[in-house]
Amino acid sequence: MKLLLMFCVGGRVKYAYLISQMMLLWLLLLFTITAVSVKGVEFKYHNHRSLEKTLRNFTEQYPDLSSMYSVGTSIRGRQMWVLVLGKHSSRPALLVPNVKYIANMHGNEVVGRELLLHLAEYYLNQYGKNATLTQFLDDTRVHLMPTMNPDGFSRSRQGCDGVTGRGNALAYDLNRNFPDNAAINPYPQQREVTNVVRWIQETNFLLSANLHGGTLVVNYPFDSYPGDVRLQRYSASPDDDVFRHLALTFSKSHPTMHKGVNCGDAFSQGIVNGASWYPITGGMQDFMYRNASGYEVLIEMSCCKYPRQDMLKGLWEDNRDALINFLLQAHMGVKGLIYGQSSRHSDLFDVVSGAVIQVMGREGIHFRSSRLGEYYKLLLPGNYTLLVTHPDFVPTAVPFTVTSSGVTRQDVKLMRPYGSPEGQSSNGDRGQGQITGEELGTPEKAVLTSRPRPLRHTQ
Ligand SMILES: *[C@@H]1O[C@H](CO)[C@@H](O)[C@H](O)[C@H]1NC(C)=O
Ligand SMILES: *[C@@H]1O[C@H](CO)[C@@H](O)[C@H](O)[C@H]1NC(C)=O
Ligand SMILES: *[C@@H]1O[C@H](CO)[C@@H](O)[C@H](O)[C@H]1NC(C)=O
Ligand SMILES: *[C@@H]1O[C@H](CO)[C@@H](O)[C@H](O)[C@H]1NC(C)=O
Ligand SMILES: [Zn+2]
Repeated sequence: MKLLLMFCVGGRVKYAYLISQMMLLWLLLLFTITAVSVKGVEFKYHNHRSLEKTLRNFTEQYPDLSSMYSVGTSIRGRQMWVLVLGKHSSRPALLVPNVKYIANMHGNEVVGRELLLHLAEYYLNQYGKNATLTQFLDDTRVHLMPTMNPDGFSRSRQGCDGVTGRGNALAYDLNRNFPDNAAINPYPQQREVTNVVRWIQETNFLLSANLHGGTLVVNYPFDSYPGDVRLQRYSASPDDDVFRHLALTFSKSHPTMHKGVNCGDAFSQGIVNGASWYPITGGMQDFMYRNASGYEVLIEMSCCKYPRQDMLKGLWEDNRDALINFLLQAHMGVKGLIYGQSSRHSDLFDVVSGAVIQVMGREGIHFRSSRLGEYYKLLLPGNYTLLVTHPDFVPTAVPFTVTSSGVTRQDVKLMRPYGSPEGQSSNGDRGQGQITGEELGTPEKAVLTSRPRPLRHTQ
């Protein structure tokens, strides 16, 4: 306006008009470019409908790298959406681990819910650009559930503390609602939990985290232990070293969490054993680990449970690398296929599901081979012995080594007990794929670095 006036005063009205028009055009162009470049997930809260739309947009823009499904509905009928990312997003693939983030289980803890949208966008944008993330998305199926408690969220209010919207529609705390092997869970199982239990029993999740808010710490199993649940006491799992590594991977990738003094709390290195912080019964992470062959931790990712919208960008920047580095840990330790001698022909081997997989010196937790006969164990570098048992086969021990340069492939062949009646098979336990002993020896199929030795007794 000022410029235009200046030109007018100069008397060259026509010229001034032209210039002003050009400037207007230029401004319009600039505005369009800016608008296009900021398109993407905005740093603002998404209600259930816009969350759903955002997820759908991802699957439309990246059909080869993403898909979505619902694990069921909440009590109030809202879909519990999951976005899957990766080259194998549309279907499971052999020896490609499934990993997951679940957010917003407490309806008023909302940061994870938003950050998962940004994480999805980041992964999808980086595919083909960043070699680490491209390989990760080729080798992993990443499942993101932005909200496990959409009904609670719909009642929640902005604020750093408080419990409005924490529970589900019937005010049950979903992180006290899982079956617990260490104690009787007195609460009726809620629909959201039933959906998640079914989901994790159908999907073989190797590595998971449950995203919460209210402080800055990674809480790792166990959350409970047999006996008096009110006592604060360190409750170590047989894989305590692995859980500490997973928790530290997150806290050390976060700019302040690992410093340990945040939000008025103090946690050495920003990690804490669940039961030593405060024991709970019916938590999700213990169920995942004890019952579903996977490692899970709980991450408190912001001091404030439901912060002001303008805090979201900074929270994303603080948590981005930590969220990425945590899931990269899915590719450590050992994995492989369990084969069992066929009941029809002793030279044939079928993949075996439901075999119990343990590692010597850390027994007690029964991981099981999947429907496809796969197993996975996260382990730090070292020498170990795998113990594999199944009612139809001779218990077998296999030594193996884990190095820091990627996951070790160790397949295992199980033999039938000598003289076991022909034809008495494990019906239904066996997968479709039948391979001969010879095929098993081909390099990409199997690395039987050592011969399986029969064990004296099962665990
Ligand atoms: C989804 O994409 C469409 C166009 O592709 C856009 O108009 C809409 O704003 C997007 N919605 C969300 C929630 O991202
Ligand atoms: C690729 O992503 C990884 C994981 O976030 C990161 O550590 C690395 O610096 C990135 N590489 C490049 C070249 O940006
Ligand atoms: C896992 O939990 C389900 C549901 O409570 C139960 O039926 C099943 O027996 C449990 N399995 C194991 C291996 O703990
Ligand atoms: C594992 O075993 C190998 C050979 O038996 C040995 O050289 C190596 O030091 C062992 N590694 C560890 C971490 O014990
Ligand atoms: Zn919480």
